Amino acid sequence: MNADLNLLLEELERFGEANDGGIGRGDPASAQRMLNITRDTGEFLALLVRATRARDILEIGTSNGYSTLWLADAAAADGGKVTTVELHDTKYRMALENFARAGLGDRIDSLNADAGEVLRVAGDAAYDMVFLDSDRTQYLGWWPEIRRVLRPRGLLVVDNAVSHADQIAGFAQTVEADGFTCSLVPVGKGELLATRGAG
Ligand SMILES: C[S@@+](CC[C@H](N)C(=O)[O-])C[C@H]1O[C@@H](n2cnc3c(N)ncnc32)[C@H](O)[C@@H]1O
Repeated sequence: MNADLNLLLEELERFGEANDGGIGRGDPASAQRMLNITRDTGEFLALLVRATRARDILEIGTSNGYSTLWLADAAAADGGKVTTVELHDTKYRMALENFARAGLGDRIDSLNADAGEVLRVAGDAAYDMVFLDSDRTQYLGWWPEIRRVLRPRGLLVVDNAVSHADQIAGFAQTVEADGFTCSLVPVGKGELLATRGAG
């Protein structure tokens, strides 16, 4: 990673902490929280992208683009791209600005849309990797489409698998029951990893 991108990521970490720290649970402004992944999760995602040579990555839940920058910087090394989806208009616009500042705009297809809609129109086996960090109440409903858009041996990564284990449990059970190999990695807020067989 180049020094300028690292400085931008550090700036976003400070911003996220200050912004989210000022908004309490149940506050009407809670939709304005950035809820970024932790830095060690960013490092872990970058490692996964490089190790698996993922070139087509789908991220569900952009926020202001902190995690997207980790994914896109790692994907760029192998000529890959990230498609990222954010429903909230202001956060979508913040992300666009951050992508341009990072010089990674050409590696990121940023969509201001509902993830369910994006999944519905995505092609079969279109993605090497899906990073899921969004509205957890939707995950089970999105699962048939996520499974369809992941290529055989593709990788699903789900954030908050430890911090919100109770909210992920039903989804994780379904993924495993569908024949995916799963592992819970205690980095950051906890990452559920799942990969599908070749069949
Ligand atoms: C935890 S935050 C994402 C944080 C981001 N991955 C990061 O680490 O910088 C979850 C985001 O999902 C967005 N979101 C919620 N429901 C969505 C939906 N149906 N489609 C797209 N985005 C959605 C929220 O607006 C929120 O910004």
